[in-house]
Amino acid sequence: MNRTWEIRHNSGMNQVDYLRISLIDRCNFRCQYCMPEGTEIDYVLRQNFLTQEELLTLLRGVFIPLGFTRFRLTGGEPLIRPGVVEIVRAIASFPETRDLSMTTNGFLLKLLAQDLYNAGLRRINISLDSLNPEVFEQIVGSRGRTRWQQVWDGIQEAYRVGFNPLKLNVVVIPGVNDQEVLDLAALSIEREWHVRFIEFMPIGNDHLFNDRGWVSSEELRQRIRMRWGLTEGQVQGNGPADVFQIPGARGTVGFISQMSECFCDRCNRMRLSADGWLRPCLLNETGQINLKTGLRSGISLINLRQQVRTLLAIKPEINFKLRESGAITGTYSRTMSQIGG
Ligand code: GTP
Ligand code: 5AD
Ligand code: SF4
Repeated sequence: MNRTWEIRHNSGMNQVDYLRISLIDRCNFRCQYCMPEGTEIDYVLRQNFLTQEELLTLLRGVFIPLGFTRFRLTGGEPLIRPGVVEIVRAIASFPETRDLSMTTNGFLLKLLAQDLYNAGLRRINISLDSLNPEVFEQIVGSRGRTRWQQVWDGIQEAYRVGFNPLKLNVVVIPGVNDQEVLDLAALSIEREWHVRFIEFMPIGNDHLFNDRGWVSSEELRQRIRMRWGLTEGQVQGNGPADVFQIPGARGTVGFISQMSECFCDRCNRMRLSADGWLRPCLLNETGQINLKTGLRSGISLINLRQQVRTLLAIKPEINFKLRESGAITGTYSRTMSQIGG
């Protein structure tokens, strides 16, 4: 397939200049595919979180000098991190920051969208796995509470405030929400919303994954193509989505196909966990270093930078090996919320 990556500005295909920063490993949802109810999770102790000051010191003293210019705030749920707006403001104000974005479940957006925008955040990815409130509550583990409406209002608020691009992430699970794919894709027609269908990954969810399996992007594209037709599309981003457009639509539909088609050889990112672990990969921890421990034990920024440089140097080999193994094989016990989405 002729793959169309989301548009990236001025970076070589494999330049690792994108840092996904997990602000907190906790979440106010319990999505079945991410941290199902009942999962025992070893949460990071609060005193082990990178403080705001430590995070900014690392960005200024280690990552920016090494050429990182794109940052995404993730979790758990980043909006439950105390001081999140301040963190956004600080990172947005670095002259080197070329892109700052966030991945959120949207529950607190109704409240925070305007503040986040004022602080300098301009683009946002929000999970929306279903348009049916009952199905939604089941997926996010609401335990009798109703959350769909608040998330929907949060999405509307983010749109009203001016977030652009505004992306909606849908993890497609057979028999749970796959029958809604056309309805969800239709959201991209009237509004400039970018709906992305994500192949379900076996990370921290053996039970559900073994029960349900996953649906390939190609199958979903086929369904959408039969209904409306599908042409290539474009949207700003740093991620692995292949982007298409329903003819005449204002937004786009994207497909993230890590199960059917490994994109590890194009990987441009590293991950910083809430407690300071720098990892080269979502699925592979080879060479990981704890920058918080380093900082707190007085290791110089120059030395930490050198350690990160060493990790950057082995990353292509990790990516290559994953690529060689085809696509995601096996299951992973850590949850996405722990790894940082
Ligand atoms: P932009 O294109 O910049 O908007 O970012 P993105 O698509 O990377 O961001 P988002 O956080 O919304 O990620 C969407 C989904 O892509 C995640 O939920 C994962 O399922 C998948 N994903 C993100 N990063 C990785 C990665 O490094 N490896 C794999 N296998 N999947 C990833
Ligand atoms: N497979 C695919 N995507 C996942 N996400 C969480 N768990 C999984 C999984 N098992 C996605 C959510 C959210 C992002 C943080 O991670 O859709 O958008
Ligand atoms: Fe990169 Fe690892 Fe993600 Fe593959 S799984 S795209 S190597 S971070």
